Amino acid sequence: MPNIAVVGAQWGDEGKGKVVDLLTEKVQVVARYNGGHNAGHTVIVDGERFVLRLIPCGILHTGILCVIGNGMVIDLWELEREVEELRSRGVAVEENLVLSERAHLILPYHGHLERMAEDARGQQKIGTTLRGIGPAYEDKAARRGLRLVDLLRPERLVARLAEARGHYERLCRGYGVKPEVDFQALRDDLVGFGARLGPRVGDTAQVLQRHIANGYSVLFEGAQATMLDLDHGSFPFVTSSSATVGGVVTGLGIPPSAIDGVLGIAKAYTTRVGAGPLPSEIGGALEDGIRERGGEYGANTGRPRRCGWFDGVVTRYAARLNGFDSIAITKLDVLDQLDEVKICTGYRADGQVIEEMPSDTELFGRCEPVYETMPGWKAPTVGIRDYKALPEAARRYVERLSEVVGCEIGIVSTGPDRLDTVFRGSSRIAAWFA
Ligand code: GDP
Ligand code: IMO
Ligand code: MG
Repeated sequence: MPNIAVVGAQWGDEGKGKVVDLLTEKVQVVARYNGGHNAGHTVIVDGERFVLRLIPCGILHTGILCVIGNGMVIDLWELEREVEELRSRGVAVEENLVLSERAHLILPYHGHLERMAEDARGQQKIGTTLRGIGPAYEDKAARRGLRLVDLLRPERLVARLAEARGHYERLCRGYGVKPEVDFQALRDDLVGFGARLGPRVGDTAQVLQRHIANGYSVLFEGAQATMLDLDHGSFPFVTSSSATVGGVVTGLGIPPSAIDGVLGIAKAYTTRVGAGPLPSEIGGALEDGIRERGGEYGANTGRPRRCGWFDGVVTRYAARLNGFDSIAITKLDVLDQLDEVKICTGYRADGQVIEEMPSDTELFGRCEPVYETMPGWKAPTVGIRDYKALPEAARRYVERLSEVVGCEIGIVSTGPDRLDTVFRGSSRIAAWFA
């Protein structure tokens, strides 16, 4: 299979984990390029549920090299927990996992600083996952962050931590809060991590470049999604990393020419966790019903996800920005019981029709959706694997989504299991996967 980037088209939780797991069958390497353990990627294997936060989903297949790229931020305690949990469930995590020595660390003070920052925002909270993601990327941009490579050089670690401590304590004073991090214990922990992780840490950009030059196939696993991208999402209600396709290049250290195709992942409807605009939010009992049928509770934090109709403006924006070659529509089955389904094709605000994503998030927040309504199919689609076996109204819905977004829909997912998937025969993704 060519090297494909899997990118979220909405606000995350589109089912990237399921699709990555499915496509892993045809590759030798799976590499994650952004984010940290704010992600929760669910994979169901033979009825068993795994939620991957930091480690690429490829780990669940044997013989796959999994790469944690330089664009990620790593909480080492969480990494060890994830490794232990996988091992306890019979998954081998050994030299099949490598980490970029350039990746930045999430340290305990990042979590503390984030809690203080979110509290200080009061009503304007972003509703982050409180995993320390934002403050860790802040330190990276401010050029004071610690990287994995620093763990391998204990003498340098002391100096880097002293700088970090000075900054943290200044911020605590500013907030009028007592520092809560024990830097001596932290140093000892980090030296321990360095000794244990050393053999797995290296120049993963070189590793990837070599694999690609030797003809291996790589899958680039995105976390978060286009509308959470730091540059292109609904700022400030975004995460702090590059979740769009550009993140593949900077977050892994490979040239753009190494990406052969881009697969967007979108739900058949829209969800969002945390604060910020969601123009097609449904509200009321209908939204509650979709949340229950779709199991729309965060894989990571357990928070209920807000649910909306499929937003064509959002996904069209994502398709153009990332250059989607094909889109996988997931969770079609969740809409099975509805009498009718709606597609948001544009917005209305200030007496005007808006068809492109506004950069001004305040304006975005005032946008009222313009809907097209289609009949529901009122028949079970769960587990259907052949496009022709889908009810006609469901096919019409999928085809209309494709027209509204302006991109082929090559995969339709009809259940959480790997096998509950339709590949459309004439699509690019089906040709690549064949
Ligand atoms: P990710 O973050 O993009 O990997 O997505 P999550 O794992 O956070 O959320 C997607 C949820 O939907 C998971 O619980 C999946 O098991 C589930 N899922 C994925 N595809 C389908 C589908 O086609 N139908 C149904 N019913 N569930 C699905
Ligand atoms: P996956 O990879 C859904 C959201 C948070 C919050 C905002 C910023 O599973 O799709 P952060 O902790 O990143 O600073 O929070 O981003 N968010 C996600 N929402 N899925 C995710 O990941 C998310 N990762 C972050 O809810 O609104
Ligand atoms: Mg998720």
